[in-house]
Amino acid sequence: MGMIDPSSEPLRQLADRRGVLIGSCVGVEYLRHDPAYRAILEREFNVITPENAMKFELLHPACGRWEFNDADEIVSFAADHDMEVRGHTLVWHRRIPGWIVDGGYRRDELMAILRDHIHTVVGRYRGRVRTWDVVNEALPMPGDASRERSLWRQVIGTEFIELAFHWAHEADPGARLFYNDDHADGLSEKSDAVYGLARRLMDRGVPLHGIGLQMHTGLGWSPSPREIAANIRRFADLGLEVHITEMDVQIQTGHGSPSERWDAQANVYGEILRACLDVPAFKALVMWGVTDRHSWIPDFTGHGDSPLIFDESYRPKPAYNAVARALGTKR
Ligand code: G3I
Repeated sequence: MGMIDPSSEPLRQLADRRGVLIGSCVGVEYLRHDPAYRAILEREFNVITPENAMKFELLHPACGRWEFNDADEIVSFAADHDMEVRGHTLVWHRRIPGWIVDGGYRRDELMAILRDHIHTVVGRYRGRVRTWDVVNEALPMPGDASRERSLWRQVIGTEFIELAFHWAHEADPGARLFYNDDHADGLSEKSDAVYGLARRLMDRGVPLHGIGLQMHTGLGWSPSPREIAANIRRFADLGLEVHITEMDVQIQTGHGSPSERWDAQANVYGEILRACLDVPAFKALVMWGVTDRHSWIPDFTGHGDSPLIFDESYRPKPAYNAVARALGTKR
């Protein structure tokens, strides 16, 4: 395993030919200070998602105060390199700034704040951010009560979901609006709930265009490719597009030597991507990070891991080749 073979075809070129997007989330600090990181993004990807820079707390830290520098930088980087941007995320139960959490706002006031936030952010990037994760992780999750305790849900009620889509659509009628969630990749109670929500929103004429499946997985607990494809098909039957929005594959939970785990990980990436590519409504694979050096997983799990397709030294792993092969395989 060495550096990228400069004569090999970049992932984005393979993806362009398939009519799909391939990309990663981006940390603005690496984009700014790490030329090797930037070089991988430019060569390999045709879509990027800000990992944190567009979250509510970061864009709108105080009432009336906006901080657009980081998000602007990511959006212009994308434009300079002919990449799309997936805006992430307008409404989430996390990363809500203190001025809102502690503000004691009434329902109508909180609705006005959210409407203003969405109009300002989506309006600013109109025509430049093609896709938005409008609402993220809004459905209940066993073991995570924070979702039901979401300020938006508590104060506005479940209507916050459809309101957010309407407001985003008002601000940029050309944007593709997604509902994004986790643990809903295969067929499960959770993905049934996401499907039910999508159907209700579509029935009610809410401007919903796609579903984001986060696809945070690991060796020994990744959903079956067949189920993922079946899940995507049922969203497609509603007229929706599907993106994988945050894929990573933890190896800590696997067996065998490090190199066996990397091979097993490559199979997971490759088989899932191949199954998804069989469904025409599948339009994007975004990974939650470029290199193992900067993954969120070790912070989250408390131990080392290697969940992405480039290693800590930015060398392509077997998973990179598996993704390239899947993209390069004819339908
Ligand atoms: O910016 C501060 C830095 O100044 C400080 O030194 C450091 C100390 O821990 O913290 C930094 O902030 C952290 C930030 O990431 C930037 O690294 C926050 O504590 C940390 O909570 C934050 O975590 C992010 C998390 O969302 C919460 O917003 C992760 O980077 C990001 O990968 C993760 O992404 C989410 C998706 O948005 C939604 N789906 C799940 C996914 C994983 O949790």
